[in-house]
Amino acid sequence: MTVVVAHRGASTVAPENTMEAYRRAVEMGADAIELDVQLSADGELVLMHDETIERTTDLTGSIASMTLKELRAADAGFHFEAADGTSPFRGKGLTIPTFAEIIDWLPEGIGLVVEIKARAATAPTIEALHESRVRAGGAVSLISFEEAIIDEARGLDPAIPTGYLLVPSQPIEPALTYAVEHGHAAVHPYEGDLGLDPGPILSLATAYGRLMGCYVVNDPARMQQLAAYGLWGFVTDVPDIGRQALGPSASQ
Ligand code: G3P
Ligand code: CA
Repeated sequence: MTVVVAHRGASTVAPENTMEAYRRAVEMGADAIELDVQLSADGELVLMHDETIERTTDLTGSIASMTLKELRAADAGFHFEAADGTSPFRGKGLTIPTFAEIIDWLPEGIGLVVEIKARAATAPTIEALHESRVRAGGAVSLISFEEAIIDEARGLDPAIPTGYLLVPSQPIEPALTYAVEHGHAAVHPYEGDLGLDPGPILSLATAYGRLMGCYVVNDPARMQQLAAYGLWGFVTDVPDIGRQALGPSASQ
């Protein structure tokens, strides 16, 4: 069954990488949530796509040079704009979540796809997961665009599945070879690189014994097509549409 993964949470209806976006994603029927981890100056893992905080919050600065206390002072709902042009989360107390907050909250049966953005965040992420319920339950996987990050993650904890994210236009077959040689469970290309007929690429993934995911799919017809070909899962900004397109999940 193809997994619907909420990209940065339900990021079209709530600010990306916030608890609000993750809560809504689960309410909408996502099978899993995807988040981005970065490391603060004082060694705390926080959720943020960018290396800096100005695109989504009211403050500026680079995460690696700010303390958790400084980061938590930011309004994580400041720049979010709803479809009607309003800013419904501005000044509502949304904060940049810590990774610990997410793993404590994650409901039973919901998968966690952790994209490690900064190499320095790799070991702390593994450490944070070490004794966690989500790791014990097999709900978590670690992904990155950087080979060094997934290789390091795998070296530190081979029990957690790792996935190799490919940048747009990156050749897929060499990436599958890399994944096999380095023990990574999955390869996640850019959706457009699967082609109009995704059959051949998905067969190739099967031949290499790897799972294949992709990012970002918001079109319901494409979701259904990819599921019909046995895609492991797709990341989407609209998990409600994903759920509708694929029907009830196994856990529902
Ligand atoms: O899951 C993959 C996707 O999140 C990668 O792209 O830039 O949204 O982190 P980005
Ligand atoms: Ca991501």
